Amino acid sequence: MTYTEKGAKRYTVTSALPYANGPVHIGHLAGVYVPADVYARYLRSAGEEVLFIGGSDEHGVPITIKARREGCTPQDIVDRYHAIIRDSFKEFGISFDVYSRTSSKEHHETAAAFFKKLYEEGKFVEKVSQQYYDEEAHQFLADRYITGTCPHCGNEHAYGDQCEACGTSLNATDLINPKSMLSGAKPVLKETKHWFLPLDKDEEWLRQWILERHRDDWKSNVYGQCKSWIDAGLQPRAVTRDLDWGVKVPVEGADGKVLYVWFDAPIGYISFTKQACGADWEKWWKSDDTKLVHFIGKDNIVFHCIIFPAMLKAEGSFILPANVPANEFLNLEGNKISTSRNWAVWLHEYLKDFPGKQDVLRYTLCSNAPETKDNDFTWKDFQLKNNSELVAILGNFVNRTLVLTHKFFEGRVPAANEDCWTATEREAVSELSGYPERIGRSIETYRFREALSELMNLARLGNKYLTETEPWKLVKTDMGRTAASLNLSLQICANLAILCEPFMPFTAEKLRRMLNLGVKGWREAGVATLMAEGAVINSPELLFEKIEDDAIDAQIQRLEQIKQQNELESWRPSAVKEEVAFDDFGKVDIRVGTVVECSKVPKADKLLQFKIDDGMGMRTIVSGIAKYYPDPQALVGKQVCFIANFAPRKLKGVESQGMILSAEDRDGRLVLLSPSQMVTPGCSVG
Ligand code: 2FM
Ligand code: ZN
Repeated sequence: MTYTEKGAKRYTVTSALPYANGPVHIGHLAGVYVPADVYARYLRSAGEEVLFIGGSDEHGVPITIKARREGCTPQDIVDRYHAIIRDSFKEFGISFDVYSRTSSKEHHETAAAFFKKLYEEGKFVEKVSQQYYDEEAHQFLADRYITGTCPHCGNEHAYGDQCEACGTSLNATDLINPKSMLSGAKPVLKETKHWFLPLDKDEEWLRQWILERHRDDWKSNVYGQCKSWIDAGLQPRAVTRDLDWGVKVPVEGADGKVLYVWFDAPIGYISFTKQACGADWEKWWKSDDTKLVHFIGKDNIVFHCIIFPAMLKAEGSFILPANVPANEFLNLEGNKISTSRNWAVWLHEYLKDFPGKQDVLRYTLCSNAPETKDNDFTWKDFQLKNNSELVAILGNFVNRTLVLTHKFFEGRVPAANEDCWTATEREAVSELSGYPERIGRSIETYRFREALSELMNLARLGNKYLTETEPWKLVKTDMGRTAASLNLSLQICANLAILCEPFMPFTAEKLRRMLNLGVKGWREAGVATLMAEGAVINSPELLFEKIEDDAIDAQIQRLEQIKQQNELESWRPSAVKEEVAFDDFGKVDIRVGTVVECSKVPKADKLLQFKIDDGMGMRTIVSGIAKYYPDPQALVGKQVCFIANFAPRKLKGVESQGMILSAEDRDGRLVLLSPSQMVTPGCSVG
């Protein structure tokens, strides 16, 4: 039994199923998979029975849209990304007991059977309603096949199921100016039949279950979102769609219809359990002594706290989640992570640039996890956490201890010599004993940042103890106390190996190997007797290496390039200005002139001074384009257009008699305008 739970015999831990339409990035890891993995690993280490479930969500419109864009089948898309995602999770040590996929046959069967049971028991409401239809593409426009303006925030690119700008969940018919994603056409409304989950009837028990029973143990961000949904009044929700990619609706008269992706995906947790456990699967879902915990991001709260529980309750034989510790979002260098804008650190790419450094990222993301509010990942912070915490505190303590043990005791654990302990040892041992429970309690209450910071405090305790006892000095005078000091330091290292495992499994494994620490779990930690006197320890290897500035600068530069690229791609011509009368335009006197001289204005980086042959003598014009024309001499002889009747004005002491015309390109560059052929200086433009 864990520190805070009474009565849970086993734990079913689920992590949101990522859509198989792109690779996974640091936002996924920080928001869902690292916390879920820490939780599952901790419980296993504490001797609990755990099933940790993951898999790819392979249905839904984003996948069919991507397939259409790439000219391949949806199955091609999900095959490609399922493999990439599965491998990334494996490489980062996410310790799923099962990682499956919703396009699997077993999943289709389970999801269809679930729907059928509810259907046969009359748990759905059948409704014919008006849905948008694309007459050119001959298709109903479910969810993301339709875009338009969000009625809540005015975002012009909201989808038929959700506005990503304000996070509101929408019905396609809520959109202002709806447009088909397929043909761009304005859709028409057409009748179609669907099955709805009558959530309005669930309002009372949901209110009681979430708002009263879980007031204190669900995170406030989760509780708050549920409260605002319930307070706003729950509406029946369609659980089928007119699409051909997904789980076919298993009833008569439902040709061309599939289950809504958000109906079938959470059933994936159940079907994957069946795949992993066979006949023994039910205890994970149907026993009151099983604790079900869903790890998700904040955009999934309503589905896991309201809709899926309503489905489970309607089915009747399943337990409900005990907790849904949703995280907020992780930003990257101050901006929202975005797959479409490539504003992300992709896990498979990270590993190419930082091979073997999975734990550094796990550590940084966990210590900075968006537990209560959105948070930011920056490369500088990543470097700092590695260099000043992992290398300087944890790595340094372990390395000093092991090196000294090899130096003074030939790589064998020296005697504890408790008879020569002083208050320093007694205090360190007493402090050490509190860590397993303290860290465990934080993990059990989903405060992973706090748990990790406690872990580092244990490494700090080790460093402090070593520095205070100075075995490198003691060795000259007192071999007994030298042994005591290194014995206790090794005991702290062994505790660190056990307690860091949920957070940094690769480091834990390395440390265990160096210490020859065998199989010891959380329950055995907290004592100074983990390492037996005389036991052999292996040669020390560095646990962490310093990350240099150039590696970080390269990442920052990569993001800078992506930012510039995105800015260029999102450029649109500015709105056309207010209409002007012809006579007003005629007041501006535009002429062509030939550049006779051109030079930089002294002490003014931006300015060029032109002498222009304007056909009426000469005039001087100063123009702020020096940055774009670094060789002013090259402009001599060229023709430019200028406004001839501007009032003269002084710029850096030079009188400018007009304004040279230029075009501002989308990257902000100014380009001079010239006639396409040489003309007589002084002629008018109009
Ligand atoms: O938001 C998402 O990425 C969804 N694919 C999560 C699904 S979680 C579960 F219900 F399957
Ligand atoms: Zn909106």
